[in-house]
Order: sequence, then C-alpha cells, then structure tokens
Amino acid sequence: MKIFAHRGCSGTYPENTLAAFRAARELPIDGIELDVHLSKDGELVVIHDELVDRTTDGKGFVKDMTSDQLRALDAGSWMGEEFAGERIPFLSEVLELFSGTHHVLNIELKSDIFPYPGMADQVMKLIRFMELEDRVILSSFDHEVLRYVAVEYPDIETACLTMEVMIDFPNYLKQIPSPAAHVFFPTALRRMGHELKAAGIPVRAFTVNDETYARLLEEVGVDAIFTDFPEKFI
Ligand code: G3P
Ligand code: CA
Repeated sequence: MKIFAHRGCSGTYPENTLAAFRAARELPIDGIELDVHLSKDGELVVIHDELVDRTTDGKGFVKDMTSDQLRALDAGSWMGEEFAGERIPFLSEVLELFSGTHHVLNIELKSDIFPYPGMADQVMKLIRFMELEDRVILSSFDHEVLRYVAVEYPDIETACLTMEVMIDFPNYLKQIPSPAAHVFFPTALRRMGHELKAAGIPVRAFTVNDETYARLLEEVGVDAIFTDFPEKFI
C-alpha cells in the first residue's frame, strides 16, 4: 500500500506549506497531496480552505485576495511559533521542490464552493512547462472539472474524489471518464469488498492517521492512503 503525505507532513508541520512539503520530500514515501486555489489576480496558490482564516493570520476568501495579499500572511504561526513566517506557497514553488524526485504529485483542484474558471488549464500549463505529466494525478470533488481535464488532457491521470461511493460506481467513473477513485476511508472499507476491487479500480483512501485502520485498508486491497503522519506508516 502506497503512502501519500496529505497536505505535506501536515500532522507535524503547518499544512500545505513548503516546510510540510520539504519534510515529506525527505521521507521514503510514494507521493504528496496538495490543494490548489486561484487568487484574485489569477495565481495558483496552495491552501486547503476557501477562507484563509483557519491556517493564516488573515481573514477572507482566497478568491478575493491578490497573491501579494495572500503572500503577506503568516501561514505557520497557527501551528506553533517555530513555524512563524511560513507563507502560502505558489503551486510552482511546491512543484519545483519535487523536480527530479520520484514522488507522485496529487494536485487537488479545489472548487468545492466557488468555481475557478480556467484553473485546470493553468495547472496543466504549469505541469507541461515543468514536464511533470508522468508524475501528476489531478483530483477533484467537482466531477465536472474532472470531466473537463479528462477530455482536454487525456494523457493526464485523474482521480475522482468522493466521500460516498454511488450505486454502480464503476460505471459512473467511466462516464467522467476517470480511472481511479480517492475515497473517504470508511467508505473504502465498506465498499472494497463489493464492486471496487472486483472492477479493478485503483482506490486511494483519505485521510488515514490511525494505524489500525491503515492495516484494515491494506487487508481489503486499498492501493494507497493519504495521511497527515506519513512518518508513522513507513
Ligand atoms: O485528496 C484527499 C483529501 O485531501 C480530500 O479531502 O478535504 O482533505 O481536501 P480534503
Ligand atoms: Ca485535499
């Protein structure tokens, strides 16, 4: 079972910061996961929430702030004073950190609440420029976005993010079309024995921080886990 550092080593470093990704880069793991939004001035920035409130010293929506405003925020202190000065990274900075490594880079296109027209194209432009096509997986809870990526960029691996597995899920994936599923881990546990394994769908489960559940997921044939504590599972 493969290990992905979820938002970097986000259990011990501030999530989605260069500190968290640098720590992940040093571990013998398979990949990282990160979340991308678009700033007001159209820059790709790595942060999980639509709001900056939880993980920075600022307030407001990412989409309403320019990249200069976002970069002025402290994205580390909320996790501990030793991380003061960590910034919200640009996507290009995170990808740069992993240029020349073996890691699979799972970029989650965040458009859970606000759509970001053109964001998928911008991400793809960067991936092509950095020649990372063979190492990226683009995922999203917004399956229309996934469909767009699958149709426009068929050489890129996609994964359908979902909390619940719909009835006739293998057929649902074919309609996107997307070859893999990133599934809330209790759902993965419940449904692997049904159609997922039989259909040969690669299933990666999020977010798994407990060793007991990790073992169960491995037993039922899950392909990978996303964890905030990758160092625990090596
Ligand atoms: O990609 C797996 C996982 O990150 C999806 O949920 O809310 O942590 O982005 P969330
Ligand atoms: Ca995510």
